Amino acid sequence: MFNSVYEFLGKIGYHHPIHPTEVHMPIGMVVGALGFTLLALIFRWKNLRLTAHHCIIFGCAFILPTMLFGIMDWQHFYGGAWLFPIKMKLILAPTLLVLTFIAYVLGRKLGVESKVVILLYSICFCLVVTLGYFGGQLVYGNRTPPAVKAYRAGAKIFKGNCSGCHPHGGNAIVPNLPLTSAPQLEALDLFRAFIRDPKMPDGSRGVMPPFPPGKISPEQAGELYEYIYHVLKHPTRQ
Ligand code: HEC
Repeated sequence: MFNSVYEFLGKIGYHHPIHPTEVHMPIGMVVGALGFTLLALIFRWKNLRLTAHHCIIFGCAFILPTMLFGIMDWQHFYGGAWLFPIKMKLILAPTLLVLTFIAYVLGRKLGVESKVVILLYSICFCLVVTLGYFGGQLVYGNRTPPAVKAYRAGAKIFKGNCSGCHPHGGNAIVPNLPLTSAPQLEALDLFRAFIRDPKMPDGSRGVMPPFPPGKISPEQAGELYEYIYHVLKHPTRQ
């Protein structure tokens, strides 16, 4: 349905989702509304209350277009699949729209210093943080393939330390050096030595950060190795 929009954007060299370019408007404005209110309370600077009120109006106005772009991206990039983070976003975003609107109406009627309005700003702030969390889940949450129970400890370590740069065992930074075909996977000792002091194949320093025992203990390195070897490298042998 929205294919022509993405086709047009593709022609001018833009191949990414549109939602992330808009989403900072409502999020930034809601954070601004609460932030300026708190500053107004702390420093007794009345003008800032009006700034907060303007922020919530601006934020509220941008929610609908941001939601529309989000729905378009969801259809285009995720095939409209009912993923859990999507369901949460579809509940939270309209709630945010309603609450920012009520905050605007009450802010006009009761004044921004009213406790109800401050409470509404605070709830809206929590909503935007939660919406951001589920957005992150959507983009980064599925980079770690699930594992059977025996490899779950390793999966957790992989998710917390490696999945950002090695989604699904690939390599997002240097694509021709995927994790799954690394020579260091031949033995646990090689693997452990590598993550303590990672290097490019020619022996020079690359981009990958070292993981000293304080970050990943020798035991955790073993669990991580098991997960990478059995789940990412040989998924069928699990
Ligand atoms: C900040 C990004 C980043 C993180 C985080 C990261 N890596 Fe890497 N990894 C790289 C890059 C880039 C390379 C290519 C070599 C280099 O630049 O050092 C690489 C290379 C590797 C290789 C060798 C691949 C090959 O084919 O030669 C292995 C094995 C590896 N990483 C394992 C891990 C493990 C295990 C973790 C988590 C504990 C991890 N990496 C975390 C970016 C990262």
